[in-house]
This record gives sequence, C-alpha cells and structure tokens, in this order.
Amino acid sequence: MNKKIGILVSGRGSNLQAIIDKITNGFLPLQISVVISDMPDAYALTRAEKAGIKTATINRKEYADKLSFENKINETLGNVDGIVLAGFMRILSESFIKKWEHKIINIHPALLPSFTGMHAQKQANDYGVKIAGCTVHFVDAGTDTGPIILQKVVPAFFEDTEDELAARILEEEHKALPEALKLWAEDKLEIIGRKVRIKK
Ligand code: GAR
Repeated sequence: MNKKIGILVSGRGSNLQAIIDKITNGFLPLQISVVISDMPDAYALTRAEKAGIKTATINRKEYADKLSFENKINETLGNVDGIVLAGFMRILSESFIKKWEHKIINIHPALLPSFTGMHAQKQANDYGVKIAGCTVHFVDAGTDTGPIILQKVVPAFFEDTEDELAARILEEEHKALPEALKLWAEDKLEIIGRKVRIKK
C-alpha cells in the first residue's frame, strides 16, 4: 500500500505540481489525500483540483488562534502517513510538530543551514554566494533546522537578479522534493540524531 500524504501550500504550487507529475508518471509511489492551503487564492489549489485531488482552504484569519487553526489542519489531514510542506509560508507550532514528529518534510530554497526563514533566495543573492541551492529536510521545532534528507546545488552569478537565482534554484527543487519523497515513500530514510541515513 502506498503511503498517504497531505500537502500544505500557500501559493503558486510548482513544487506541488512536480509531486503530482511524478506520481502520475509512476516515479513516486505515494497517494495525495488532500492539499491544504492557508491562502484562499493560492494557484496550488487550482493545480490540485485539475488533478482531481481533494482540496481545503484553512485561512488563519478565520481562526481565533494558532491552536484552533492547526486543529482544523489536523482534522482535515485525517490519518495521513506524512505531511509535505510545499511552499507553505507559516511556522507550525511545537505541539503540531511533536504530533507529527519525523513525519513532516519541507523544501527550502537555500543550502541549509544558510539563509533560513523567508526570502532565502534574496538573502543568498544579497550575500553574494557563488553556490546556492535547495534543501529537503524533516521538520523539527526550529525554523529550517531539521535533519537534512538531500540538497541540490546551482551556481550563483554576480549578475543574477533575485528572480534569476530563484528560478535556477526552483528547477532543482522540482527534482529534489520528489527524489526525497521517493526515498521516504520506500522507507529508505533513517533519522539518527540530526542526521539522515539513506539506506541502500
Ligand atoms: C519554493 O521556492 C519553496 O522552496 C519556498 O517557496 C517556494 C514555493 O513555490 N518555500 C519557502 O520559502 C519556505 N520557507 P511553489 O509554490 O511554486 O512550490
């Protein structure tokens, strides 16, 4: 039986699309139970609907506090095996992360531990790094600090605009996230302390 995942999104959904495409072409043995957006107008929702996937909008503004917002997310996720954060722009609470310990996977557009948090590509571009990239990692209580599953690198150039660098990184994100999810789906990941071993 394929593992079931819930995917949390906030925007464009190109990483969601990469997952959908890799499930459709048989690369990824996963089933998407639901796509949840905290933003009502996220294009990710349209992508999910086009693929016939159940969607839900859970707008933080409609909830009195973070706890009730996250309770609704939990209720909507149901009994999934894992959660993927594919461009989800909110920090989840410690209690939410504890409930799903080692079961939440995030894609971040930087080579962690550099450039955590928001606008990672701008941070990298402003800093003047010569190598940039993306990281897929398990989520822990910190921001972008959890055990790293895999990373992909791209060159960064003096002439790059933030958008040019972000686009180069995004191309690798679309490979990295499905690759990491495939390893997870096939039970090939073992978390030891803060390191992840990839089993043969
Ligand atoms: C991606 O670049 C993802 O790595 C980033 O948001 C973008 C979402 O694009 N996530 C973060 O910055 C999380 N802190 P998408 O909606 O097209 O997948």
